[in-house]
Formats: sequence, C-alpha cells, structure tokens
Amino acid sequence: MPAPEARIFENIKTEKPATRKLLELDIKFGDLTDKNVEQFRILNYLNLPVIYSEDFYRRLINNLRYSKLAYLKDVLVGAISCKEDDYEGERVVYIMTITILKPYRRYGIASKLLEQAVKDCAKGNIKKMNLHVQSSNQSALEFYKKHGFEIAAKLDDYYTDLQPADCYVLVKNLEQSTTSQ
Ligand SMILES: CC(C)(COP(=O)(O)OP(=O)(O)OC[C@H]1O[C@@H](n2cnc3c(N)ncnc32)[C@H](O)[C@@H]1OP(=O)(O)O)[C@@H](O)C(=O)NCCC(=O)NCCS
Repeated sequence: MPAPEARIFENIKTEKPATRKLLELDIKFGDLTDKNVEQFRILNYLNLPVIYSEDFYRRLINNLRYSKLAYLKDVLVGAISCKEDDYEGERVVYIMTITILKPYRRYGIASKLLEQAVKDCAKGNIKKMNLHVQSSNQSALEFYKKHGFEIAAKLDDYYTDLQPADCYVLVKNLEQSTTSQ
C-alpha cells in the first residue's frame, strides 16, 4: 500500500469517454460484512483523501442498512457507505463514502449504488439524504448535482488534514424525486 502522501487523487470534471457511452456493465451488489470490510477499507484508502479510522470501520459493521459493495465478475470495484443521522431536526441518511476504482468510473456504477441507497431510504421512511464533499472535488460535485443534490451550505475549515479545508453540505429531498435527473 502506498504511504498516505504518495496517493494520487483525480477529482476533476471530465467529459464522459465515448467508449463508455454504450457499455452496460453487469454489476452485482454485495453487503458489507466483517469478512470483506478490509477490502472496503483498502478501496477507500486508495480512492479518498480522508483516511478513516479503525473505529469508523468497526462502527460501520453495526450500521449496515444503507451500505453496499459493487462487484464486477467477483471483483470489488466500488462501494457506498451511509448511516442514519439527524439534520435540522429531521431523520436523514448521511452518505459517508462513495468510491469507484478509477478504471471503472463513468460506467454508471456509483449511480447504481446511490439509486439502491435511495430505494433503501424509502423502505426506512427517510425523506432526505445529505453529505459533506470537499469543495475541490469537482467529479463528486457533478455526480451529486446529476442526482438532484443541492448545495445547502459551505463550511470553512471543515477538514483538519486536507487542503482545501472547506466543504459543501449537499442535500437531496427524496420526496421530490427518487431517481436520477
Ligand atoms: C464521484 C465518483 C464516485 C463517481 O463514480 P462513477 O461511477 O464514475 O459515477 P457515474 O458513472 O455513476 O456518473 C454519473 C454522472 O455523474 C457525473 N460525473 C461523474 N464523474 C464525473 C466527472 N469526473 N466529471 C464530470 N461529471 C462527472 C456525470 O454526469 C455522470 O454521468 P455521465 O457519465 O453519463 O456523464 C467517482 O468519481 C469516485 O470514486 N471518485 C473518487 C472518490 C470520491 O471523491 N467520492 C466522493 C466523495 S465521498
């Protein structure tokens, strides 16, 4: 595994590669378990600037309802993790991580994971989703915008270990729409 400072992130806004426009990958979902949590931890370590603690993963195992792994031919290519939370007096589902391995991006895999989480929210009678995203993460901002999330706030100095340190709070009202835009 590379040292934390040797990891390279690419979060820029890009055009969808023409070759990916027509390809539909056969993605299967899996649950997060204590057997595969280490794979999930490595996926996040290699693809997200935030390094989550062991405690984060221990707590996640007890909070699995809205988290899913994405497999292509038995290979882990992406994942979403979420938890129930309180936001402005309302019960919401908070997206903690959404990660796709770089070669598998722009195939709609993160969209499938998010759409599954939205369906699970409906089952849990959750009417809103929210998250924090680093202000420089253009690909994630475009992704969430496409799925109907709106900027609710900008928080300065939110991240203690990242530059830029500011983030956007994004919110999606699930009562208005349950599918991607
Ligand atoms: C953000 C991320 C999860 C998107 O995953 P993905 O599987 O490539 O997303 P999808 O293929 O479902 O994209 C859906 C739409 O989002 C938008 N989008 C996604 N990546 C984009 C990019 N780099 N530039 C512009 N728009 C983008 C597009 O509108 C895209 O639709 P299109 O491909 O038909 O144009 C992925 O880039 C990633 O893992 N990034 C690193 C981890 C991260 O920053 N996660 C978010 C913070 S937790």
